Amino acid sequence: MDDNIKIQGGHKLNGEVHISSAKNAAVALVPAAVLASHVVTFLDIPNISDIDSLVQLLEFLNVKVYRRQDTLVIDPSEIQNKMMNHEAVSKLRASYYFLGALLGRFKEVKMKMPGGCDLGPRPINLHLKGFEALGATVDYENGYYTIKAEELVGNNIYLDFASVGATINIMMAAVYAKGRTVIENAAKEPEIIDVATLLNKMGAEIRGAGTDTITIDGIMKLGGCVHEIIPDRIEAGTYIILAAACGEHVKINNVIPQHLEALLSKLQEMGVNMEIGSDYVEVFESRELRAIDVKTLPYPGLATDLQQPLTALLTQAIGISKVTETIYPERFKHCHELNKMGADIEIYNGQSIINGPTPLHGDVVTATDLRCGASLIIAGLLSDGETIIKDAYHIYRGYDSIKEKLKALGACIE
Ligand code: EPU
Repeated sequence: MDDNIKIQGGHKLNGEVHISSAKNAAVALVPAAVLASHVVTFLDIPNISDIDSLVQLLEFLNVKVYRRQDTLVIDPSEIQNKMMNHEAVSKLRASYYFLGALLGRFKEVKMKMPGGCDLGPRPINLHLKGFEALGATVDYENGYYTIKAEELVGNNIYLDFASVGATINIMMAAVYAKGRTVIENAAKEPEIIDVATLLNKMGAEIRGAGTDTITIDGIMKLGGCVHEIIPDRIEAGTYIILAAACGEHVKINNVIPQHLEALLSKLQEMGVNMEIGSDYVEVFESRELRAIDVKTLPYPGLATDLQQPLTALLTQAIGISKVTETIYPERFKHCHELNKMGADIEIYNGQSIINGPTPLHGDVVTATDLRCGASLIIAGLLSDGETIIKDAYHIYRGYDSIKEKLKALGACIE
């Protein structure tokens, strides 16, 4: 795959775009399928490279996987619990969901350190504490985790931080544990509800997903099921921001606006002209954008994954905007790249200060991570001249058919 994206900026976007299924749900749902004894079918699987990596890992574990268009069929009936030393483990963060899923199913897992976007430190201590609370021992040696238990027994687990990954991983490990597990201060993201819905369809007994207390009553066996994944709120948010930056009239379809309340109210505060429907958001050209202050927070607060795309839009707002990043205090690499394109952004202690509006110009920039890439695409569309985004493979990890979707809106991108 060519690793550069080239954009000729300055074209106004018009038309409709369909949002794909949620990456951050799909990357947990696919590993969760190994907990089943029968076939699990996902409708509308997103066409992103993180899913390709997870499919490689399933096949490595002798799981049969069939993919036709948007449908992914997973048959784990002949799964083998091998040491996870496959190179795909290092390609994405979500390979860590095999820790919880394989521990749950086999009471033992051995896997090398997961990879993923470089957003500063990303420990998994809360996942491991959760596994230990269920009775597992955790060893880390030469870059490999070995996690095993004679038996897993339900327990009360308080998360010091409402971690998305830890909540899902503990849920997966606990479905086969003896007795009741209660996760307190659980993360409340919509993706967690989606994973709990899948597991419950398979026969698990999970209650409270979407609140800060999740209860899991262990069961003996999970069957197969068919599952439709929720729409991607981050992809939707990215297109809404992009439309606010350079759209004339763009309709974003297959959106759950309730999942985007924090973003939509911040955009309204900026003066973005939009109409929010039941399952769509329509964005019209705005006359003037005002600077705002935003702070990323766990759901239902503003998603950290949207602060990078939003920053590209804030370069066009009048006045000084402030972005406070509370989830990943080092998630600001996109700001250096935006500055190369003419933005005026300073970074202090987990905050970026954006002085706008500044005209942007095309340049050669690097997608240092997935959402940085999204931010640069928006900047490239806004810019005068040609932008070349290097390391675009990060973008394909999480945005389904992004070039095709943007071309259909009138963007000049290849
Ligand atoms: N944390 C710990 N210890 C842990 C786990 C997390 O200290 O054991 C800290 C992290 O370092 C971070 C905070 O808790 O400061 C939040 O981490 P969380 O576990 O919630 O994030 P994650 O599960 O690793 C998922 C998404 C990210 C998204 C975050 C926050 C996936 C595969 N990744 O990561 O998505 O930013 O939740 O919502 O679901 C992206 O899509 O670009 C992306 C990075």
